This record gives sequence, structure tokens and C-alpha cells, in this order.
Amino acid sequence: MALFEVTKRNIHRDRRVLGSNWSRVYGNYFSDEQVLRAFVDLSSRNLEALPKKPKVLYVCSGTGLLGEYVVQHLRKLGKMPSLTIVDASQAQLDQNDNPATRKVLADLLGLHLHEKFDLVIMRSSLDYFHTPALQVAALKRVKAHMASGGIFINQCAALPTLAERKLANDIYSSSPKIGKRHFQSTDLPWLYAKAGLAVEKLGAAPQLVLSASDHILRYDLSSIEVRLIRRLIAKTPRTRHQLIKTTLKGYEMTFDFPIYAATKK
Ligand SMILES: C[S@@+](CC[C@H](N)C(=O)[O-])C[C@H]1O[C@@H](n2cnc3c(N)ncnc32)[C@H](O)[C@@H]1O
Repeated sequence: MALFEVTKRNIHRDRRVLGSNWSRVYGNYFSDEQVLRAFVDLSSRNLEALPKKPKVLYVCSGTGLLGEYVVQHLRKLGKMPSLTIVDASQAQLDQNDNPATRKVLADLLGLHLHEKFDLVIMRSSLDYFHTPALQVAALKRVKAHMASGGIFINQCAALPTLAERKLANDIYSSSPKIGKRHFQSTDLPWLYAKAGLAVEKLGAAPQLVLSASDHILRYDLSSIEVRLIRRLIAKTPRTRHQLIKTTLKGYEMTFDFPIYAATKK
């Protein structure tokens, strides 16, 4: 399977956490019951409105846990869903032991399943596409897989202002071990519009609070890199950041996790 350069780099940087370690990343945030529940609770009206046998596609799925949670919920609603999960890491897909789930090793940027889905979901992955142009390209691949009347529900890491988003992006790109990211902010509707999607905010999942220690564990940051990040935060005027701060010896970043529903324009 051919991966785009950007994807190869991202997978390589995540090598310590892909696979069996994924569920424990960032204090178990991605497997936390409250976080999973927020996704289905906030999208409940959209989920109820799906056809009787909805086809669900989870892109950048990791182990697919959220997708399994969503299809279980759909079954409780009396539906008969099928789930396809797509990730660029075989180690992530290998963690999913549900024989009924179709696993596809693929890069979202080159995804052509020649099939349409009633529901496409994504979580905490749009920022991996580190420029607005790459994000639009990824969203266009999502749109290409949406059935007519289909819906795309995305939970994405976000900062409340463009200035604070810039600081977060700068922090990530300051270390080649973490790599460039582009987090979401107030310009998300513009991005979706560029991809031909109309978007509505459904609400927000619990925030994710990260410390320097979390980044050290995940990316093996050195003390010099932590110091550099502390300096980046300290030199940014306090009025430009509420959710990112230095602590006694490290730093703390709090991410909002809004959930958006989108339809084809
Ligand atoms: C932050 S993890 C999120 C995993 C999962 N969505 C969750 O919430 O637990 C990002 C995932 O996206 C995958 N990924 C990154 N770039 C990708 C791409 N271009 N195409 C497909 N998957 C990608 C990674 O392998 C990883 O599993």
C-alpha cells in the first residue's frame, strides 16, 4: 500500500504508541467511556435518522474502538449497521478483533473504496494533515465516500482562537519528533466549505489536558525540547493563550474537542 510522504512521517513519529499502547495514550482519553459516550450522545439525532441498515466508515480509525461503540449504539436503536475501519497503520488495525468489522489499510489522502457510506466518522485526526490544503484534500476524500444524504461526524482537537491555535501548531512543529500539525479553530467552517461540506457544531466532548510528561512519553522529547516549548509559550503574550501554559517544570496544553456534523453541499 502506497502512503503519502506526510502520512509515512506521521506514522513513524507515532511508532511508540501505535498498536497495543494506543488505548493508554494521554491518560486513556481515547478509550474513556465518558469521551466515547459524548460522541454518541451529541450525535444521537443524526444516528437515529440513519437508514435501517447503515453503512458506517471510520477513517483514521486507530483500533476502531469509537466505531465499534457507535455501531453498538446503532444496534440498540434497532438498526443493522456494518462497519469499515480505515487506517494507515497495520498495528492499529490489528488491535481490532471483531471479525464482523472490515479493516482496510489505506491512506485517507488516496482513499478510493468505490463505495458510499451513510455515516463517516473521524476523531482526533484532521490535525495530522498539517496544512489547510492537506485538510481540504482529506475532507474531499471523506466527501467522495458519503452516500447521498450521508453524514460526516468529526471530533477534532481545537483551540478557541486563531492566535492560540498558532501557538499550538508552533509547539508541535518545534520538535521534529512530534512534527507539524494544524489544529482546528474558528476557521473550520471555511475549511469544510472548501471541501464542499456544510457543517454544524453538535457540542463538545470532554477537553483533553496534556502535560510535557505526556509528550515525553509519546515522543521521547528531550529536556532541551521541553525548554524550547516553555520558551515559545513564555514569549507569547498572555492575552493570546488561555489553554496553553507553562507549569513549574514543564507545560500544559488543554485541547477543546468539538464534534461537528457535516453534509454534502
Ligand atoms: C490520533 S490517532 C486517532 C485514532 C482514533 N481515531 C481514535 O480516536 O482513537 C490518529 C490515527 O490516524 C492514523 N492516520 C494518520 N494519518 C493517516 C492517513 N493519512 N490515513 C489514514 N490513517 C491515518 C494513525 O495511524 C492513527 O491511528
